[in-house]
Amino acid sequence: MEASHILHSGYFNETLRSWHGSNTLLSTNQLIYPVFVTDLVPDESSEEIPNFPEQRRYGVDALLDHLSPLVNKGLKTIILFGVTNSSCKNPTGDYASSKDSPVRRCLPMLRAKLPSLTIAVDLCLCGYTSHGHCGILKPDGTIDNQASITRLAEIALDFAKDGAHIIAPSDMMDGRIDAIKKILLVNNLGSSVAVLSYSSKFASCFYGPFRDAAQSAPSAGNRRAYQLPVVSAGLAIRAAERDVNEGADMLMVKPGGPFLDIIKDVKQRFPHHPLAVYQVSGEYAMLWHAARANAFDLRTAVIESLIGMRRAGADILITYFTPQLLDWLKEAQQY
Ligand code: PBG
Repeated sequence: MEASHILHSGYFNETLRSWHGSNTLLSTNQLIYPVFVTDLVPDESSEEIPNFPEQRRYGVDALLDHLSPLVNKGLKTIILFGVTNSSCKNPTGDYASSKDSPVRRCLPMLRAKLPSLTIAVDLCLCGYTSHGHCGILKPDGTIDNQASITRLAEIALDFAKDGAHIIAPSDMMDGRIDAIKKILLVNNLGSSVAVLSYSSKFASCFYGPFRDAAQSAPSAGNRRAYQLPVVSAGLAIRAAERDVNEGADMLMVKPGGPFLDIIKDVKQRFPHHPLAVYQVSGEYAMLWHAARANAFDLRTAVIESLIGMRRAGADILITYFTPQLLDWLKEAQQY
């Protein structure tokens, strides 16, 4: 028998197939569902998002109604994004700290009503700044790194006090993990609140639908100065290294599908840090539209895309397909 004969038809039955990839299986524990909470609609309403099929922005009460049945189906974790009225925005993003902001209103409520749910909160200024950038700007329009991380740390403390289990800074500024870890430690929240760093985040075109959802596109300029160039594997590792050194509890690669090599590199370099991979809004839309156009079956394509990320080294999968996956994973014995 030649050693190269590995594909005898019939040899790989269901059970045998699973043994060849037991570390690449999917389970509901790995999934994080991104959700948008807003004050653009009344608390009990929700609204469609242009260019983002089947995703909605929810008022505070509507979000609870949306999540409750999903928690009953096995939803374990969400990541929360706040979307607020433009009249509340200013250059320093002060509204992020307001007790009236949608995120701060819904955090204690979700903790009380859905105690089994783990809540991550995206931490970024772009949804709250009038200019739409992820940091505070200097007069010349470039990012003021120190002012930005001081502000981010203040907001992180607010979210942690409100009951967030995980703070997930997505801005990419140098030093923000250190600033957040320190403020949490000083306030005795260091061991109860984890920091999931968007560590290797590329300046990707695949964030398009999200920027509609969060109404966070920059009014001038772009984010290429503080997000990683898509050509650079080296910077992705250095950014992860920076965040590990600053005390990040978990790392992230974003987007997922076009960056499978980066997932593998980061996991190999930091095997002891849980690695989250964000299947972003554009990847979601791409799969959704292609399935609609009968290019393939949605469920098969979503599962295949996520298994690819697991194979590359993802421990945690952030995906807008989470509600469907709760059903799909229940129906199948395993993937
Ligand atoms: C905010 C943020 C973005 C995403 C998550 N957090 C947009 C961006 O950086 O421009 C994108 C998520 C998605 O596309 O699903 N900084």
